[in-house]
Amino acid sequence: MIFEHISTGGCQSYLVGCEATSAAALIDPELSRIDHYLSLAAREGLRIRFLIDTHTHADHFSATHALAQRLEVPVVMNTLSPAPFADLRLADGELLRVGELRLQALHTPGHTADSMCLQVEDRLFTGDTLLIGGAGRTDLPSGDPEALYDSLFNRVLKLDPALNVHPAHEYRGRVASTIGDEIATNPRLQQRDRAAFVAMMNGLNLSMPTHITEALRTNMSGGRTVAQMLADAAASVPFMALAELKARLDAGAANLIVLDVRERDAYEAGHVPGARLLPRGQLELRVDRELPDPTRPIVTCCELGLVSTLAASTLREMGFRHVIALDGGMAAWREAGFPVARGTAPGD
Ligand SMILES: [Fe+2]
Repeated sequence: MIFEHISTGGCQSYLVGCEATSAAALIDPELSRIDHYLSLAAREGLRIRFLIDTHTHADHFSATHALAQRLEVPVVMNTLSPAPFADLRLADGELLRVGELRLQALHTPGHTADSMCLQVEDRLFTGDTLLIGGAGRTDLPSGDPEALYDSLFNRVLKLDPALNVHPAHEYRGRVASTIGDEIATNPRLQQRDRAAFVAMMNGLNLSMPTHITEALRTNMSGGRTVAQMLADAAASVPFMALAELKARLDAGAANLIVLDVRERDAYEAGHVPGARLLPRGQLELRVDRELPDPTRPIVTCCELGLVSTLAASTLREMGFRHVIALDGGMAAWREAGFPVARGTAPGD
């Protein structure tokens, strides 16, 4: 078995491959590391055949949906997963054939209703059901401390004590543990009485993960994150450096339209001299009146350089072939000490 562990902050992903057939499964991939997983699989001579989420993640962005579209392979989750893009749903006791490897699913609800562990040879991928020195929290949507008690004490901890534990999260860089180690030392597992365990889990009083709403929205629906939308837009347009725009304005580039896509009050408080105002929210409605010539060079501009990238991408889709986004925004423009004009827009 080929085994690779990829750590992204506290998120742990695993690439498991069959040496004989080169088939592989990727477990709990994280959205920002897609290029890394693909290059790692290529380096190991592996072809990813399955993308597995051990559960619906609430604290980070899963890469399974984006990778599935790219690789045309199924997303595997538990039968209870709410994600509409989970093509292959495993019930308790079912297994996945990855070349000659067998990945056995155990339904282990508690952290979430759709949590599962996966066993392959001497390794157990525990998701957030069992962590090294911890257990998954039960206060997030579909969490249930009673169910976690059963999943741990009546399922996972009854497996072979020699099994290696590979959790979906580990924040302190620990990589080696076994079921036996966890039974002996994990502080959350010392409370073996059901009521006491449930009271302990209910009393943890943890803060909510950052981005929980966005993570649940995208992980449950297959929709895109804001970062993905910005990255896609940025990959579809060229950019112009602030100093280049300044130089062109100094040279009197009369044909270049600087299009400020912020709201009117921000524009009036300070804009690039000569810039026109067309707020992003009105772009589609007013574009034909404001920009009748689709061949004119246009550079879009906003406060931080993000909304202007989205606006440039939209304009390109509408046929404006010479749209460029400013690499940076008015905040950086002011910071650079470049000239700023104030007051109403031309034509007002
Ligand atoms: Fe989780």
